[in-house]
Amino acid sequence: MNIIVTGGAGFIGANFVYYEHKKHPADKIICLDKLTYAGNLETLAPLMEKPNFKFIKADIADRKTVYKIFEQEKPDIVVNFAAESHVDRSIENPEIFLQTNVIGTSVLLDACRKYGIDRYHQVSTDEVYGDLPLDRPDLFFTEQTNLHTSSPYSASKASADLLVMAYHRTYKVPATISRCSNNYGPYHFPEKLIPLMIINALSDKKLPVYGDGLNVRDWLYVEDHCAAIDLIIRKGKVGEVYNVGGHNERANIDVVKTILQQLGKPESLIEHVTDRKGHDRRYAIDPTKIHEALGWEPATKFEDGIKKTVQWYLDNRDWWMNIISGDYQGYYERMYGQREVLEYAKI
Ligand code: NAD
Ligand code: DAU
Repeated sequence: MNIIVTGGAGFIGANFVYYEHKKHPADKIICLDKLTYAGNLETLAPLMEKPNFKFIKADIADRKTVYKIFEQEKPDIVVNFAAESHVDRSIENPEIFLQTNVIGTSVLLDACRKYGIDRYHQVSTDEVYGDLPLDRPDLFFTEQTNLHTSSPYSASKASADLLVMAYHRTYKVPATISRCSNNYGPYHFPEKLIPLMIINALSDKKLPVYGDGLNVRDWLYVEDHCAAIDLIIRKGKVGEVYNVGGHNERANIDVVKTILQQLGKPESLIEHVTDRKGHDRRYAIDPTKIHEALGWEPATKFEDGIKKTVQWYLDNRDWWMNIISGDYQGYYERMYGQREVLEYAKI
């Protein structure tokens, strides 16, 4: 089988490429990635010479190139990870989020329509459902929850989901969608909470917690997400949406304290700073459907996954040092330099 994986040089896409390569060695993986700031070829270096792997640098929104790739590679399956993925960046500059996440998805769908495909899979997010209140722990996102977006990022992902469903209904593109909660694990770009806190703590730098730090995310070890997508593309039903999450809800402040504990660093490194605009309070996935339909369940508990992740960053300093020594410095200054430090008692 020929599988095009878009965004395969990013965090989850690369983990998925490794997962598929190991689990289905006979399949050919064609990784299509624009190599934005978030894409990193070093991540894929061990695969570059493998006969069943091919890397193509391309933009999913570039129609001519995408059509050419479909014509040449004749994919059976397309899994679309390619996206602008960081909420804070979408608040700073929404336009590229529309270009990649919406237009890019529409180009891929048109290519599937033109050349034919066995399955198009859209990697979406639980953020399309908006957020849940902290005082209603009984509430969870199901596949029936209304789309109710908060940030330009989540609005662009929800728009893409609507396009996927429209192409399925109108043109019979055989599509599926997964909506997953927050991932963590190896190769996570250091702009995101967990790697940012690990790397800052290792450098004895302050850990910038937004607002009161009580916002809740539902953490899933990245390999469990890859396993869910692998099941959906092979056994999932066309036209269906599957929520993916492992009931691992944690307040941000607790995640940060766990990381400090693992690294033997003091809590005095924590600094509460100006909150994210429109900050979603709580995400929590109900994974009943994927469990009952496909037998999926997460294999890694948060306590184990966070230990493995911290160890990975300790063992792979070169990988993240190369990132933070480049443009990342400018990003960090832009994103955090202006934030006011809040006195926690006054939050
Ligand atoms: P990431 O930012 O780490 O990687 C994105 C990848 O896409 C990079 O390799 C980048 O170069 C590539 N890319 C960006 N624009 C492109 C374009 N126009 N054409 C081709 N390639 C392009 O993102 P991630 O965290 O790995 O997320 C992957 C997908 O999973 C995204 O669609 C995201 O919305 C979704 N998702 C992420 C999470 C999470 O917790 N990280 C959870 C649920 C869903
Ligand atoms: O829920 C799935 C989503 O998870 C994905 O769709 C997104 O692509 C992914 O980036 C992630 O979005 P979040 O906004 O939840 O992740 P992030 O790591 O940016 O932030 C997690 C929480 O930590 C959030 O409540 C904001 C907070 N935070 C984040 C950063 C970067 C801080 O307190 N300080 C920080 O410096």
